[in-house]
Amino acid sequence: MKKVIVSGIQPTGELHIGNYLGAVKNWIDLQNDPAYDCFFFIADWHSMTIDYEPSEKQRQIKNLVADLLALGVDPNKAHIYVQSSVTATAELAWIFNTLTPMSELEKMTQYKDKSARNAENINTGLFAYPVLQAADILINKAELVPVGEDQVQHVEITRVIAKKFNNKFGKLFPEPHALLTKVPRVMSLTEPTKKMSKSHGPKTCIFISDAPDEIYAKIRKAVTDEAGIQNLLDLVELFDESGLTTAHLKKDFAVGELKNVELKDTLAELIANTFATFRERRQKITDREIKEVLMHGHEHAAKIAAHTMRAVRELVGLE
Ligand code: ADP
Ligand code: TRP
Repeated sequence: MKKVIVSGIQPTGELHIGNYLGAVKNWIDLQNDPAYDCFFFIADWHSMTIDYEPSEKQRQIKNLVADLLALGVDPNKAHIYVQSSVTATAELAWIFNTLTPMSELEKMTQYKDKSARNAENINTGLFAYPVLQAADILINKAELVPVGEDQVQHVEITRVIAKKFNNKFGKLFPEPHALLTKVPRVMSLTEPTKKMSKSHGPKTCIFISDAPDEIYAKIRKAVTDEAGIQNLLDLVELFDESGLTTAHLKKDFAVGELKNVELKDTLAELIANTFATFRERRQKITDREIKEVLMHGHEHAAKIAAHTMRAVRELVGLE
């Protein structure tokens, strides 16, 4: 039996190199491994927990799917779908709500951060966010969840919920684990002790769709205190497939001969080259292709969800 892998990403803005190195690059590697059955989805329900513009949402969803396809997430190897198209997930989330202690949700770092940043809209959805995430994962009976470090706590609470369900109603769900990459936390360009995040503004991130001149300009302005230099050197290592550039820069750095501008321009060149194919492919993706991919992904995911939900309803006494 193949192991099931599930991960999602919110349609809230452009993908940045933190999303890529922390999560999406891993999705691409994992889908190519025949040991796994991969489900990757657009978490549109999760994205409603923060204020948003309804007339923008469909465009954001389509853009994100197009970005994933252009990066190499492959509909022939993974099931790609929109979260809200599998409505049974909301039913499972409701059942999980009745099992999840509020005290567990109160511990969530993301909830604390987001409610501090959005004090005027601390809604119940933001609080119950990890319960919906547990439903996304467990409705597919996933064992592995490839995400960045900030999501590890949500995978831990998923295990708590799976255990509670299994103990109370009968064993149905696996207890999933997070799968991290070598770089589970890419740092911000302007505040290198904080994680790179689109919610901290465009100057702090490099978006995968940035044109080469934007990449150079942003990196030229990156902070170069000790943490900043370390971040830039780490990034060079990650984007330098051959390892040759890294060896050369590290040698110069060790003897104090590495100029910041050389480090920055080298990194900018590596990043611009890494996403050259992406930029080309991205332009060719049509709305029709996106629609077809999502329709196929939906069909499969909805079938699996229906199967899980029949067992759930029986176990909890609803059927
Ligand atoms: P953001 O914080 O920019 O809004 P998301 O919450 O949409 O990003 O995250 C999508 C995926 O990318 C998640 O798996 C998350 O853990 C990962 N991720 C986000 N930021 C980083 C980062 N700076 N380093 C590594 N992984 C990250
Ligand atoms: N909360 C995740 C994020 O912000 C997105 C997400 C929703 C997710 N459901 C999931 C990730 C299930 C992995 C598995 O990045």
